[in-house]
Amino acid sequence: MAEVLDEIDRVQREALAELAALGGADALEAFRIKYLGTKGRLKDLMSLLGKVDKDQKPVVGQRVNAAKEALTSAFEAKRNTASVDSGEVSGIDVTEPGAQPALGRLHPLMQTIDELTDLFARMGFAVASGPEVEDEFHNFIALNIPESHPARDPLDNFYLAPATSVAGQASIDSTNASPRLLRTQTSTVQIRVMETQKPPIRVVIPGRVYRPDTVDDTHLWMFHQLEALVVDKNVTMVDLKSTVMQFVKAYFGQDTQVRFRPSFFPFTEPSAEVDVWFADKNRWIELGGCGMVHPNVFKQVGIDPEVYSGWAFGFGIERIAMRKYGINNIRLFVENDVRFLRQF
Ligand code: DAH
Repeated sequence: MAEVLDEIDRVQREALAELAALGGADALEAFRIKYLGTKGRLKDLMSLLGKVDKDQKPVVGQRVNAAKEALTSAFEAKRNTASVDSGEVSGIDVTEPGAQPALGRLHPLMQTIDELTDLFARMGFAVASGPEVEDEFHNFIALNIPESHPARDPLDNFYLAPATSVAGQASIDSTNASPRLLRTQTSTVQIRVMETQKPPIRVVIPGRVYRPDTVDDTHLWMFHQLEALVVDKNVTMVDLKSTVMQFVKAYFGQDTQVRFRPSFFPFTEPSAEVDVWFADKNRWIELGGCGMVHPNVFKQVGIDPEVYSGWAFGFGIERIAMRKYGINNIRLFVENDVRFLRQF
């Protein structure tokens, strides 16, 4: 019995001495196989159990296990310092489980746009887009907004400076001097869609618009609109109202109330403004304008108003998002404060 325990101690001592003198990954691996491997010397020591009396087996077994633990932890300590010393995987613990990298997230306005376009896609609408820098034809003329209309006042629009010639060469813009401006409404894209597509048309258009408004809690110099346009034979105001009501109920809840107020827009006749009742605020909140597409608009894009009719709306997306998430200051959308953005 005593010899057996001595044998175990001897193997342990030898192994530790050998380990202390080792260097290099290959030598370490050879050591591991020699002592700790499935056919290693510690495994051999287990066979000593057969040489002792039954009542001594637990003592011997425990001693072998203790030797194994001592060697394993010494081996691991040596392996860790060796890899740090050699700079092989400096400081990286390759045994750590993988962590998901911080990927960021979609801006709350982009999330809102995705929700809205998904919802309208389910009602059969395609998504269209158009340029943010526009000409007067698409921003005003084709939308039946006459020269004298106050909406065309330079003080109410971001006109771009005319392009100047570069190194004596006239640019395309300065020869063909159509003033350009940042679009003030996504209704411009109604025109662009009708210029390139024939009815039936059923599109929604999310996008940025720009107006030189004084900034306050609900106004910025830039915001987003969701425009919709439907053109087909026999389209009526009933289609407009039922689509808007379905949208409002699907987005804000089935018992949400909707109100249409008579209004005026040059590109629709009749026109209305849409309000949604929010019981918690005890007030109507305006979503935007809508109406039946004006025959003059159809004429500008070569669609016969005797054959086709259509409806359109333009809603403010910030308003929808602010209402949905309980945001009370529009500036938060553009400040890029991660403490705000992280909440969505
Ligand atoms: N473009 C209008 C605005 O920005 C909103 C609007 C009103 C859009 C009526 C429409 C519409 O499509 O039919 O104030």
